[in-house]
Amino acid sequence: MRFTTTLAAGALAMGAAALDAKNYLGFNSGANLADTSAKFKKDFKAEFETAAALKNAPGKFNAVRLYTNIQAYSQDDPIEAFEAAIETDTRILLGVWASGTDNIDKEITALKKAVEKHGSKLTDLVIGVNIGSEDLYRVSATGIKNKSGVGNSPQAIVGFIDDWKKAFKGTAIGKVPIGHADTWDVWGNSTNKAVIDAIDFVSVHEYPYYENDKGNHIDNAGSLFDRAYQATIDAVGDKPVWVTETGWPYVGPDWDEAEASVKNAKKYWDEVGCRKLFNKTPTFWYTLRDSNPENKMKFAITDNLSTTPRFDLTCPDSFETPEEDEESSTTGGAKPTKTEGSSQATTMTTASNADPTSDGDGSESGTQDGAESGTQDGAESGTQDGAEETGSSDDNDDAAASLKVSAVAIIAAIGGVLALF
Ligand SMILES: *[C@@H]1O[C@H](CO)[C@@H](O)[C@H](O)[C@H]1NC(C)=O
Ligand SMILES: *[C@@H]1O[C@H](CO)[C@@H](O)[C@H](O)[C@H]1NC(C)=O
Ligand SMILES: *[C@@H]1O[C@H](CO)[C@@H](O)[C@H](O)[C@H]1NC(C)=O
Repeated sequence: MRFTTTLAAGALAMGAAALDAKNYLGFNSGANLADTSAKFKKDFKAEFETAAALKNAPGKFNAVRLYTNIQAYSQDDPIEAFEAAIETDTRILLGVWASGTDNIDKEITALKKAVEKHGSKLTDLVIGVNIGSEDLYRVSATGIKNKSGVGNSPQAIVGFIDDWKKAFKGTAIGKVPIGHADTWDVWGNSTNKAVIDAIDFVSVHEYPYYENDKGNHIDNAGSLFDRAYQATIDAVGDKPVWVTETGWPYVGPDWDEAEASVKNAKKYWDEVGCRKLFNKTPTFWYTLRDSNPENKMKFAITDNLSTTPRFDLTCPDSFETPEEDEESSTTGGAKPTKTEGSSQATTMTTASNADPTSDGDGSESGTQDGAESGTQDGAESGTQDGAEETGSSDDNDDAAASLKVSAVAIIAAIGGVLALF
């Protein structure tokens, strides 16, 4: 590690970089592999090395979003992603699993152990923490209708945020901004306002692919994304909005007008990632490598952690999605217009091209974002997957955006049961 006499200067520089949040680029990473076995340090490290060295990436993907602090197969040991992140200089958006439980004590214990062991080598990399992921979606009308699994109430999430603040008051982690991750429709539900009031930033999940009955053809995906993104911004007032899950499957069954294909996954990358997100807002793409074998939709932009993605990540100079402020920005008015790409994105592309370092580890195939915490405690086997089965059929913007079907929950439950043996 680079801890020398320049430690203080380095820490200052890193602190300054952390304030400039707009450039965070990363992927989501669950605690388990596709077969529900635990990910260990080498698995996380292989992911982080590939992410940072992706060919033609519009910036360096050197951040990761986690779903739990707890290492799978343990009660409250720190997730080994922390050590992998330290060794690869990867920024960490912490996650705390908050469903199917009435406390986050083990999450707190796990992080405290890690901070005790690694100190500022770890805390300097932490860019934020999400207390909960899609807990409110799963208790929403859409989530329940679609058996999305166990969620939690806004009151419980607010309570966990208080617990977190108390636990880390006066420490480096106490300075880390607190968020909560949920689907875009959740934020406009006034019953959830207490959560918005309790957090520093909002993490939103958006999958236009699953927006059935809304004209979810790939040609409209940019506009659908913009509408949901704007609805979130309107709902949360002046809190920063980070996009912590979005993507388009490259293979899988059609979903209403949406078709999964490599071509469409590339178009989504361009029209949503390049046009709207990369280097403009913290973005955690779904995803680097696939996970849940139950999910027929596959999102991974790489095969076997190759640094050559399945489509060219180069951002285009112009886009087809109509400008947001045009009257025709709602569904149906998608008259293509050309807009100039940002020079910033171009700059970042150049920078990233200069830094290829790894060809990845071909031995790891697939992750299970669902089984976030494969602990021996059944109550902790909460699951989350960005996009395992997401969708909606409700035209009401307030009520529906995306859904998750219980396949992920089942997988995580199996993982929890297996862990007992
Ligand atoms: C609004 O939020 C509350 C609390 O999260 C939830 O119980 C309710 O089902 C939500 N409403 C809809 C229409 O989803
Ligand atoms: C990825 O790994 C799997 C399993 O080892 C293998 O069957 C497959 O051919 C690999 N794919 C590529 C593109 O190398
Ligand atoms: C529930 O999920 C099914 C498929 O899993 C989907 O067809 C339907 O539209 C969803 N319902 C709602 C209300 O989102």
